[in-house]
Amino acid sequence: MAQSKKNYLITLEEYIIRSQNRFNGATGELSQLLRDIGLAAKIVSREVNKAGITNLLGQYGSQNVHGESVKKLDVFADDQIKSALARSGIVSMMISEESNELIRLESSSGKYIVFFDPLDGSSNIDVNVSVGTIFSIYRRKSPRNKSPKESDALQPGDSQAAAGYVLYGSSTMLVYTTGIGVSSFTLDPSIGEFMLSDDDIRIPELHPQYSINEGNASGWPEGVRAYIDHIKKVDAGTMRPYSLRYIGSMVSDLHRTLLLGGIFLYPPNVSNPKGKLRLMYECNPMGYIIEQAGGLAVDGKGRVLEVVPESIHQTAPVYMGSRKNVEELMEFLNGKK
Ligand code: AHG
Ligand code: MN
Ligand code: MN
Repeated sequence: MAQSKKNYLITLEEYIIRSQNRFNGATGELSQLLRDIGLAAKIVSREVNKAGITNLLGQYGSQNVHGESVKKLDVFADDQIKSALARSGIVSMMISEESNELIRLESSSGKYIVFFDPLDGSSNIDVNVSVGTIFSIYRRKSPRNKSPKESDALQPGDSQAAAGYVLYGSSTMLVYTTGIGVSSFTLDPSIGEFMLSDDDIRIPELHPQYSINEGNASGWPEGVRAYIDHIKKVDAGTMRPYSLRYIGSMVSDLHRTLLLGGIFLYPPNVSNPKGKLRLMYECNPMGYIIEQAGGLAVDGKGRVLEVVPESIHQTAPVYMGSRKNVEELMEFLNGKK
């Protein structure tokens, strides 16, 4: 239900508490964790907005675990999220795109494990184009009186307790799910609060729009190539040709896809034969949101959320968006079209 249909405003904090009250036996820990992430998001949003002024733009001078150059704002966002997750003792382990190893916290009895991409789309920072933060939350499986193990972190996406993203766009939005639909909030900077925008986002079933880096076509699977050729052919009856939209920031490209529909693709290519996007803090959380909104998220063989992870930074091919768009792509991947 859209916020505009109500005659009063709901803050993120209030919404989280109300949602928690619907569950008997909820301890409030997940709610606290979501509020902590909301606070970190406000701080990152403030810095992203003034980055050009405060000279945070540009390279930090090192490379992350994937050999990509790390930007100053990546470091700032990473620090903010780490301290937000460490502050309440709820998180026992966290995994960041910017840290090679998983990070064990002093609160080793904490119930939750959090993966995050502190700043997604960071190559867009220098040109004032939207970036984001992605998070994915799991419950640990091992007993809480023992130190958590790596296997606690390596759970399939279907086991996520919650996931979400923050989009630092023309306004800052926080979108999350705990498995009962998708809710979005818009930051009102004048009062410093995320206000409820929509508490049941549904992705359209079909939309004639696609999002892919076509410069990487070398090395695409044959089915992807055939599908992209197909959607560019003219046929008014099936709304072809589709329009292309590609920002190069997964959060931005998928936020648009979530609201308007269409399909986002990051297939394997010559440089990235196993895909580029990271399973645990890019594909799984975004896939969970898309599925909760009624869409599909696949890796070319099956659901992204069913992939059993082998390592914390592994990559996966990914195709997600409107149900009918993804189903048609799958027909091409399976050689049925
Ligand atoms: P990050 O900035 O966290 O490294 O992520 C960048 C990712 C993702 O946001 C985007 O979808 C993709 O890289 C773009 O890759 P190409 O430049 O290969 O298109
Ligand atoms: Mn990213
Ligand atoms: Mn990143």
